[in-house]
Amino acid sequence: MAEPTCGRARIAVLISGSGTNMAALLYASRQGAPFEIVLVASNDPHAGGLSLAEAEGIPTFSLSHKGMQRAEHDAAMDAAIRKSGAEYVALAGYMRVLSDEMVQRWEGRMLNIHPSLLPKYKGLDPHARALEAGDEVAGASVHLVTTELDGGEVLGRAEVAIMGGDTPETLALRVKIAEHQLYPQVLGAYVSRGSDPDYLLGRLRELALALPEAEEQASHGSPAFKIAGKSGKFFAHFADRHHGAEQIAVLAKTSGQDELADLVERDPGVFFRPAYYHASGWVGITLNRPDCDWDQVQHWLERSWRSVAPKRLTKLRDAADEF
Ligand code: GRF
Repeated sequence: MAEPTCGRARIAVLISGSGTNMAALLYASRQGAPFEIVLVASNDPHAGGLSLAEAEGIPTFSLSHKGMQRAEHDAAMDAAIRKSGAEYVALAGYMRVLSDEMVQRWEGRMLNIHPSLLPKYKGLDPHARALEAGDEVAGASVHLVTTELDGGEVLGRAEVAIMGGDTPETLALRVKIAEHQLYPQVLGAYVSRGSDPDYLLGRLRELALALPEAEEQASHGSPAFKIAGKSGKFFAHFADRHHGAEQIAVLAKTSGQDELADLVERDPGVFFRPAYYHASGWVGITLNRPDCDWDQVQHWLERSWRSVAPKRLTKLRDAADEF
């Protein structure tokens, strides 16, 4: 998955209709949400949301898809999005199915809102289907866009009670109100995840615990990872802005002071000397930075793990690596 950036994330919103979700995102951005809308684009030059965006001083782009091949139209939309400097794309009632190429180009950076509690009722007419099924609760979901229609990871949901006498129209109206709360909140959290210690620890934990016989155990009050068992040694520490540092980081073992000094000198944007720990050769690897390289983090976790793991484990690992 692509990595988040720092500062306010730049968003392009794609619409085909009235654009009320786009408006919710725009007004949230003006109330301090961690993103800004840099473009509103549409496949329908008459989409109501375009004039709203224009009135609000947001750059717009429109190109009718009529008479165009899907790939050709997507490429033109993509060019406009890139020109705007957008880092993320928010689909908000964009009624065109996107080509696989377009979806793959924005993998991990394209979100959509769908008016059902996914995975229920993907595709068309979700309100009518919820009513027909006799559901008590409907709602909306924000999800990552993948090549499977409405099938990407669900990032957040809002539930809306179904009332006696609801029609698809009355239900849709209430679900919209919930959508307008949900989308800015989920998008804001998603673009900020790179400076969210819970998100960073979650990813780190997944990588660390995938190593053989690794277990988590707090050390000096912070999450840390060690080889299982009483005498098992620590191979990684999670440091959330320790001792006034700006970094949210993982600490890993280097081969010693020379390597530590070399790393910090060569790449100070990534490596730093962690308070206290540096004395015993630990290096800090910053996680809350734009485009954190998780392959590099994994590499260091493995190295650090190898430096403390018993031979029987490293041997098994070597054998596994040969396959
Ligand atoms: C919303 O219901 C959204 O969930 C769906 O399309 C509709 C767009 O409405 N994907 P609007 O244009 O934002 O008012």
